[in-house]
Amino acid sequence: MKMQHGNPLTPDVLKEKVLERLPTFPRVVQEAWKLMQRPNVSPEAISEVIGKDIALTAKVLKLVNSPFYGFPNRIASLKHAIILLGLNTIRGLLISTVVFGEITPPLMEIWEHACECATTAGIIARRLGSKASDEMTVAGLLHDMSKAFLKVYFPDLDAQIEAVKKRNKCVDLSAEREILGLGHDVINLWMAEKWHFPASLKEALAYHHQVGKAKEHPQFAAVVNLADVLIHIYRLKPGKELIPEIDAETCRILNLSPEFLLEVIKEMDKSLYASDWGEL
Ligand SMILES: [Fe+2]
Ligand SMILES: [Fe+2]
Repeated sequence: MKMQHGNPLTPDVLKEKVLERLPTFPRVVQEAWKLMQRPNVSPEAISEVIGKDIALTAKVLKLVNSPFYGFPNRIASLKHAIILLGLNTIRGLLISTVVFGEITPPLMEIWEHACECATTAGIIARRLGSKASDEMTVAGLLHDMSKAFLKVYFPDLDAQIEAVKKRNKCVDLSAEREILGLGHDVINLWMAEKWHFPASLKEALAYHHQVGKAKEHPQFAAVVNLADVLIHIYRLKPGKELIPEIDAETCRILNLSPEFLLEVIKEMDKSLYASDWGEL
């Protein structure tokens, strides 16, 4: 664990700093978020609120129409998107506009990895026959959100993590644990709690590297863990040979077979071969 200005960077100190620097949601996102907590709220009411912000609406529709959802026809209205995808997915997409709203060059790699993980999580979830495949897709999109946050709001710590990664030739999580005393999974949990994420999304983000810790929605964490590992394997290249570990729990929860994996990889190849994610 590193010292910051003479004080040890304990988990409590880091948590305080993280929560202090968390961006506040734009007003319209806040309003929509509040509305979505109410029981029986109508898709019209939510789309009316989000629709007040044209740029936000365009971003949400861009995500809805991106290859990871793969709708055969373009979805042109928010109301239609809300009906098709459900509130938990729309919540996740709204958060994605906050996290990835402005993709500066240092964030590009995280953004592309997020899009590819979303695509793969969707493929796995649909193959499993999950009714929550749209939510799992958005969990894939957000699974490393705290890495983006660290890059923007804690560039010094991020630079130290990058240096350890290079020096030790290790995965992100190990370097983060060396510098911060904990990994991006724990910071995901702090952020998800602060932002009142739905439990399924929160567990996927917090436990995608320790699937056994997911108690309420283990399938979410397992799908994201598998998607993350498969994407790393798919994008293997010189200098990018380090792959996060597949959790033993993932194999058990998803009942993985070689045939299943082969089908997923074939589909990934079709979806990702010529993907160009652009910006949000
Ligand atoms: Fe991760
Ligand atoms: Fe990842």
